[in-house]
Amino acid sequence: MEVRHGIQSWVLLLMATALSVRIPELPPAGVGDTLPTDLRTSQQRIAEITEMIHVASLLHDDVLDDADKRRGICSLNAVMGNKLAVLAGDFLLSRACVSLASLKNTEVVTLIATVVENLVTGETMQLTTASKQRFSMDYYMQKTYNKTASLISNSCKSIAILAGHTAEVAMLAFEYGKNLGLAFQLIDDVLDFTGTSASLGKGSLSDIRHGIITAPILFAMEEFPELHAVVDQGFKNPANVDIALGFLGKSSGIQRTKELAMKHANLAAQVIESLPESDDANVIRSRQALIDLTQRVLTRNK
Ligand SMILES: *[C@@H]1O[C@H](CO)[C@@H](O)[C@H](O)[C@H]1NC(C)=O
Repeated sequence: MEVRHGIQSWVLLLMATALSVRIPELPPAGVGDTLPTDLRTSQQRIAEITEMIHVASLLHDDVLDDADKRRGICSLNAVMGNKLAVLAGDFLLSRACVSLASLKNTEVVTLIATVVENLVTGETMQLTTASKQRFSMDYYMQKTYNKTASLISNSCKSIAILAGHTAEVAMLAFEYGKNLGLAFQLIDDVLDFTGTSASLGKGSLSDIRHGIITAPILFAMEEFPELHAVVDQGFKNPANVDIALGFLGKSSGIQRTKELAMKHANLAAQVIESLPESDDANVIRSRQALIDLTQRVLTRNK
């Protein structure tokens, strides 16, 4: 359920370069007299803050899910206990706050604070939602945005705002992050069922075993309404997992989820193509890398 550690930083630093174009309506020094080197440093700060918030959310997620492994190695809560794992997450969040404040940009503070709010709300909703909402694709996409895509979209937007870009360009940066994040999570949902090449066609099924209904099952439920009753009973009983997998296999749930991921990946790529033109080689290369990333998200298998 997460973006691989470090990938956000790559996206954000590429975005910083992709947006390093002259901004005509502003004085050359940009907003708040930021010099170019200061600008790059503050953009790197955003990347660090994003990683800290991401890792904090993983530490807290593992406590909530009672997970004993994280990407094949022991989780912090398994080794040190829940109390220290929660405090470690809180510590990272507090460091992120201090670092964020030092950028002295209230708009960016608001964006990143909203990310933390979205993360907490998304997680709370996942724990408490009534079944009618759990069956809604619309609601699922909102929750996915809150839990996964909000972090990368708002930090991409922050990169643009620090550079003094217009609201329009900032919104494009936001849309790139949002669509990339949604595509990433939809593929993650598929991999939870289908597994990776390394696991020989078997997913870990960790979402469904935790009672978390993701896009493939939601699509399968549209084709097989009988699945509603199974989902309502929950997945404490492993037989229900098998029944649900049976319906999923007969449905086009996996295929439709992949198509939805492709739609968002393509939207992200289109956003990059509509950025203000530039003939700077670094800018062009960074933009191409951001476009390539949208397709890599679709074909990744780990
Ligand atoms: C997403 O987050 C916003 C703000 O934190 C909240 O109002 C909304 O209910 C959340 N939605 C879901 C589905 O988590």
